Amino acid sequence: MPAYAILGAQWGDEGKGKIIDYLSKRADIVARFSGGNNAGHTVINDLGDFSLHLVPCGVFSDGVINVIGNGVVVDPDVLIEEIESLQQSGIDITQSLMISERAHLIMPYHVILDTLAEAQRGETAIGTTGKGIGPAYSDKTSRTGIRAADILDLDNLKTRLETVLPFTNAVLEKIYGVQPISLKLILEKSEYWQKRLGAFIKPVGRFVNDTLDNGGTVVLEGAQGILLDLDHGTYPFVTSSSPTIGGASTGLAIQPNQITNVLGIFKAYNTRVGSGPFPTELFDGIGEGIRTIAKEFGTTTGRPRRIGWFDGVLARYSNRINGYTSAVITRLDVLDHLDSVSICVGYKLDGEIIDEPPGGVAALERCIPEYETLPGWDVPTAGVSEIADLPKNARAYVERLEELIGCSVDIISTGPHRDHTIMVRDILAS
Ligand code: GDP
Ligand code: IMO
Ligand code: MG
Repeated sequence: MPAYAILGAQWGDEGKGKIIDYLSKRADIVARFSGGNNAGHTVINDLGDFSLHLVPCGVFSDGVINVIGNGVVVDPDVLIEEIESLQQSGIDITQSLMISERAHLIMPYHVILDTLAEAQRGETAIGTTGKGIGPAYSDKTSRTGIRAADILDLDNLKTRLETVLPFTNAVLEKIYGVQPISLKLILEKSEYWQKRLGAFIKPVGRFVNDTLDNGGTVVLEGAQGILLDLDHGTYPFVTSSSPTIGGASTGLAIQPNQITNVLGIFKAYNTRVGSGPFPTELFDGIGEGIRTIAKEFGTTTGRPRRIGWFDGVLARYSNRINGYTSAVITRLDVLDHLDSVSICVGYKLDGEIIDEPPGGVAALERCIPEYETLPGWDVPTAGVSEIADLPKNARAYVERLEELIGCSVDIISTGPHRDHTIMVRDILAS
């Protein structure tokens, strides 16, 4: 019953999509457990070049069932568009997609509220993706959300919206001074969503559990990363869900002891999109060079990603929270052009050296990284798929990351294509 949780170990965009596609060739189910279409997961394989926002990354492997779990917030229009776009590329997922009946829906008013709230925050804006994520999760916790199952029964949905919508409209009109949303419009949309998505909405928790009980392999697809986690991230500059290991369990109704492998996906350096503290951020030509070479622009919003050196303090913290059984290092090849590479090995906070990030965002802003510098490597790593072919200095760099994270690096990624992957230890066989 192996279940592999694939978790973002930094601020998102670590290359989870690539690794999930790579692992999914041996999976029965690939299941998303959190976030929504704020995620952008890139997959490049022999079928093409894809950017997925809601559909799990198992869709390119034969025989895999792709599950959108109860922890995900689903924008139905975006999902319909994504299914169609895959269809146009020759990938038909109509027989392999399941949506949890308990997943909450991102309604049109959530998207509007997200944009309005960001505008109101002004200088202190979080830099959200504007996809309605925060408002949808807020409604979930306020118990005013609309779930996938609700669009299967339109009469019941109407009654529910009659309770929920007046409050939302009062906020739109009285707080923000904009037009209210009509009940009729939402009901018309819901009827359309029912036609297009109704067949995929199922009790998926039981299905995932039964597959594991029968010895099947499940890949749990994380979105975002631990440093964007609502509890463990750099609050309030975070997303509104739990991209950590606990989220994998609650977001799919998996028993924690069914998760046999926990993979922390780390970039060989750090990036962040949006606002918030970033101790190792680079503001010089090195950061700009990495951004240009690695095309570090958001998959969902196209915004330039902020770039920094690998942060060993945050990496160790990430492992403490998630308890990785394997670390995965991606984008090693991006550092190929550098003469030397720095790693943050500690912070100085108000004159004292610390090895754990402070919880308060203001204190984290004051942390000054302590760096260690390693020599670069003269032979490129791009495209390497055997550990023996990795240059000595690149191996030394990975070994130092391994020490700092506190977990063995079992996979190294050296390029965006599925084949540009070194399996250091065959974790799928164990
Ligand atoms: P995700 O959100 O974690 O799935 O990551 P994204 O897809 O948003 O961003 C990762 C980017 O890195 C994508 O453009 C990938 O194609 C790319 N990528 C993944 N692994 C590697 C790698 O090892 N080397 C290079 N050069 N690019 C990679
Ligand atoms: P993947 O799955 C990187 C960031 C946004 C913003 C903050 C809150 O591709 O790794 P939200 O719209 O969620 O309310 O925005 O979180 N963010 C991501 N950054 N990768 C992601 O997902 C992200 N999803 C959200 O940029 O700073
Ligand atoms: Mg991404």
